[in-house]
Amino acid sequence: MEFWKRNHTCGELRLSDKGSRVVLSGWVRRRRDHGGVIFIDLCDRAGVTQVVFSPEIDGEAHRTAEGLRSEYVVAVKGLVRPRPEGTVNPKLPTGEIEVAADALQIINQSLTPPFPIEDEEDLQEEVRLRYRYLDLRRPAMLKNLRLRHRVTRRIREILGDRGFWEIETPLLTRSTPEGARDYLVPSRVHPGKFYALPQSPQLFKQMLMVAGVDKYFQIARCLRDEDLRADRQPEHTQIDMEMSFVEPEDIFEVVEDMLRKIFAEFVGVEISLPMPRLKYSEAMLRFGSDKPDLRFGLEIKELSGIFQQSDFRVFQQVLETGGVIRGFSVPGGARLSLKQLDDLTGFCQNAGAGGLLWILFKKRGDLKSPMKKFLSEEVLDKLRKTLNCGPGDCVMMIADQAEVAAEVLGRLRLKLGADFELIPKDKYEFLWVVDFPLLVYNQDENRYEAVHHPFTSPYPEDIPLLDTDPGRVRSRAYDVVLNGTELGGGSIRIHQEAVQEKMFSLLDISPDEARRRFGFLLEALQYGAPPHGGIGIGLDRLLMLMTGLDSIRDVISFPKTQKAICLTTGSPSEVSQRQLKELHIFLTEDKQIEEV
Ligand code: AMO
Repeated sequence: MEFWKRNHTCGELRLSDKGSRVVLSGWVRRRRDHGGVIFIDLCDRAGVTQVVFSPEIDGEAHRTAEGLRSEYVVAVKGLVRPRPEGTVNPKLPTGEIEVAADALQIINQSLTPPFPIEDEEDLQEEVRLRYRYLDLRRPAMLKNLRLRHRVTRRIREILGDRGFWEIETPLLTRSTPEGARDYLVPSRVHPGKFYALPQSPQLFKQMLMVAGVDKYFQIARCLRDEDLRADRQPEHTQIDMEMSFVEPEDIFEVVEDMLRKIFAEFVGVEISLPMPRLKYSEAMLRFGSDKPDLRFGLEIKELSGIFQQSDFRVFQQVLETGGVIRGFSVPGGARLSLKQLDDLTGFCQNAGAGGLLWILFKKRGDLKSPMKKFLSEEVLDKLRKTLNCGPGDCVMMIADQAEVAAEVLGRLRLKLGADFELIPKDKYEFLWVVDFPLLVYNQDENRYEAVHHPFTSPYPEDIPLLDTDPGRVRSRAYDVVLNGTELGGGSIRIHQEAVQEKMFSLLDISPDEARRRFGFLLEALQYGAPPHGGIGIGLDRLLMLMTGLDSIRDVISFPKTQKAICLTTGSPSEVSQRQLKELHIFLTEDKQIEEV
C-alpha cells in the first residue's frame, strides 16, 4: 500500500503558507458533514488543522471522506488556503487556514473510543487509566508529557553544566532503609534469595562519594510499597543528587538555582532567592506542620503566657500538665455561625484535640465565646495585640500537649485557609525546613527511630547528647517545601564509621544486623569517605505543582491506582506454575492458581 510521508505537522501551517501543497497525517478528531462539504479536524501532538473535502475539489477524496470516523489514522494531500471570512478561528494557531484535500488515504481504522479525545471531558479516572494510550492522546495530557520531557532535559543540562555526573545505579539490589516496605524480586539462580528494588539510590550515591565522584545526579526511579495518596505512587522519580565536601548551604544553592531556572523558563514565575529557612521547631510552632504552606497567613501564636493566671479550669489543667495554649485569628471569622463552629470543633476532635475554643469579636464591639466570663479586659487586650485581631475577626485556640496543639492547629489552619479562600492559586512559596530532630521515640516499640534515615548526620556539637539525651539531638537534614507539599528531602551524611555504628545502636540495630544489612556501606566508610551530603527531589510532585494539577498521576505516563494496580496492563498479575517453580516459590493453598 502506498504511504505518503507528511511534510508538515498538524500544528504548523499559517496564512503565510497559502498556496502551498502539503501532506499531513494524523488522527481524525471531529468530522462535520455540511451538505456535500466535509470538514475534519486532523490532529497530531503538534496541534490541529482543518481539512476540507468537497466534490468540487476532488470527487474521490470526498467519497472516501464520507467513511471517516473518529480517531481513524489518515494522510491527506492538498492546498493550503485561507478560511473564508467569518470562519476564522482565532483560538487556534492554525485557525486562519484550511487544507483543501484532493487526496485522502485511510492508513488505519479505529474502534469507537470509550471516551471522546477532548480536554474538557469530565472523565472517570478508571476508564482513563484502562485506556491510558487514548487518555494520553488528549492535548492536555500530551502537554504534560512534553513538559516532563523538557524539564528533565533542562535539569540534566543545568546539573551537567555545574559539573554533576549522571550515573545509573542498580535496580536489583539490597533493601534500602527509606522507611517503606520493599518490593522484592526472587532470584532464580539463588533459591530462597531476593533482590530488593531500591526505595532510593541512597547507599549507592554515598558509595559514589567514597569513590571520588564528587558530584553525582540521577533521574532515579524509586520503588516503595507504601499506602498511596494523590501525591504518592509505588514508583516515583527523584532528581537525586549527592556532593562531597559540602555544607547544607552548598546543596541549597544548587537546588535553588535549578528551581529558579525551571520556574522562570517553564512557569514564567520568578522565585525570590534565597528561599526562607525555617527551623523544624519554628515551623511546627507557627504553622503546625513540617511542610508549611506560606501562601497565606493564619499564623499560630503561643498564648500560654496570656492565660497563665486564668481561672478557666481547662486552661489551668493543661498548663499544669506541661501543655500549651496556642491559637490564631481568622480575619472576617466573626461571621461563622454556631453550627459552623460546632463542625470545626468536631474537626479538631477528629484530629486529636479535646475541643476547640473560640472567641468571636463581633463588628458591634461585643464578643461571643463559650469562655466569655473568663476573658478579662487585660487578657483580651493581650490577645488582640498578639494575634493582631479586632472587630469582625475570630480567635481559634487549642489547649493541649504541644504536639497535639501543633498538629490540630496545623490542620485547622489549612482547612480555614481553604474555606475562607485565603490560598492564592498562582503563588509559589518555597522554603527550606532545617534542623529536624535526628531521632523520634516510638512509644509502641520502646525505641528511637530515625526521622530521616539512619545515615543522616547529627550536628557535630550535639554528638555528646547521643549518650545523654538522644531526643534533643538535631540532625543536619533538610526538606525543600513548596506550597505545603514536601518537594524534596536530604541531609549531610555520617561519614565516620564510629558515628554510624553509634547511630545503629541507638536505633536498636545490633552490630550483627547492621553488618548484615549495611555491611558494605560501613566497610566503604572505612576507606577514606569524604564528608558528603545530598538531596532527592520528587520530580512527579514538582511537575504536579508546576502544572497546578491535584494528582501526580496526571504527570506520569502509566501510573498505578490507589490500590497499586496498573489498569492498562492489568499488573500485578498471576504467573505460570512453571515460572513460580523456577523461582522456587510455592503459594499457600488459598493462593493456588490455575495453570496460566
Ligand atoms: P525522601 O524519602 O524524603 O528522601 O524522598 C525524597 C522526595 O521524593 C518524593 N517522594 C515521592 N513521590 C511520589 N511518591 C512517593 N511514594 C514518594 N516518596 C517520596 C518526595 C520526597 O520529598 N534518599 C533520600 C534523599 C536523600 O536523603 O538524599 C530520599 O529518598 O517529593
